[in-house]
Amino acid sequence: MRVIVTGGAGFIGSALVRHLVLEKGYEVLNIDALTYAGNEASLHSVDGKRNYRFLHANICDRGAMEGAINDFAPDWIMHLAAESHVDRSITGAAEFIQTNVVGTFNLLEAARGYWSKLGADRRSAFRFLHVSTDEVYGSLGEDGLFTEETAYDPSSPYSASKASSDHLAMAWQRTYGLPVVISNCSNNYGPYHFPEKLIPLTILNALAGEQLPVYGKGENVRDWLYVEDHARALDIIIERGRLGQTYNVGGRNERRNIEVVKRICEVLDDFVPANRPRHELISYVTDRPGHDARYAIDASKLEIELGWRARENFDTGIEKTVRWYLENEWWWQPLRETYAGHRLGLLDKARA
Ligand SMILES: NC(=O)c1ccc[n+]([C@@H]2O[C@H](COP(=O)([O-])OP(=O)(O)OC[C@H]3O[C@@H](n4cnc5c(N)ncnc54)[C@H](O)[C@@H]3O)[C@@H](O)[C@H]2O)c1
Repeated sequence: MRVIVTGGAGFIGSALVRHLVLEKGYEVLNIDALTYAGNEASLHSVDGKRNYRFLHANICDRGAMEGAINDFAPDWIMHLAAESHVDRSITGAAEFIQTNVVGTFNLLEAARGYWSKLGADRRSAFRFLHVSTDEVYGSLGEDGLFTEETAYDPSSPYSASKASSDHLAMAWQRTYGLPVVISNCSNNYGPYHFPEKLIPLTILNALAGEQLPVYGKGENVRDWLYVEDHARALDIIIERGRLGQTYNVGGRNERRNIEVVKRICEVLDDFVPANRPRHELISYVTDRPGHDARYAIDASKLEIELGWRARENFDTGIEKTVRWYLENEWWWQPLRETYAGHRLGLLDKARA
């Protein structure tokens, strides 16, 4: 099996590349522009393997995408490259439109050109998986779950750009017959997560005895999924998912943000006791503009139709994650030095 992964130097992409190269033994070409979020150090375990290749290229570069796809001749393309941080999208939406919308369009067109010239067998076996987020569905009240039928209602420039790219991917399936499948996943956490996001930021700040910023009152609810469970889901969806269908991916592990932060403090206090309980470092800060109240995924279509199940629950996954950060300072220390952990995504700062 020959697989192109875009965005494979990012958080989820690198977990997927490790899964495909090391566990499945597939031939993998990772295409990544190495933005601030891309990190080749996350790929140290596959570097040098005979079934792994890396191409430093931007998905907005049509010529580079056409060349890479035609040369590598993939059976599958798994598209994860994106600008992914909501706070950054609030103060810098242009890059999100460029990569997430224009880049996805380019990739779909390059894939279509390649796929349309394949012989009958490879043409019918070819798959394009477009990887997306549950944030396209907007915000839930206290009850209910996002299903694949939930209407799109994005709130942030990030989720609006992902919603746009989902529509493009689906339209390329309906109009041109490109064999597209789409996945929409809830919040991921786990190893190799860039320390601007809630969970790694909390772990590393708590370890350093620094303040733990919690947006608003910390009441926002997210449905957390361990990243390796997501990688396995993507592999199953591209292999067995029905064309032109969407599959929601989620771990049935809803937590309020404040509960997540407090749980990390407890785990760290247990693993590495400090002078005082780390929850005392919590500091409530100005909320994110347009902050969605609650996300929760109904993953039963994926579970029943394709037989996927999350292996980790939040308690087992968060312990694994904290332990990983404790044991892998070599990976995160350089990122802490270049990324100061300053607050992003506040509108008054955007106007200044
Ligand atoms: N993180 C989550 O919780 C989550 C949840 C659901 C879905 N997703 C989706 O999964 C995908 C991966 O998310 P992530 O958290 O790993 O993101 P990430 O920000 O960690 O990684 C994105 C990767 O894409 C690369 N990239 C960015 N722009 C590019 C471009 N123009 N050309 C080529 N490469 C480019 C970056 O260098 C980086 O390696 C995204 O599409 C995201 O929308 C993420």
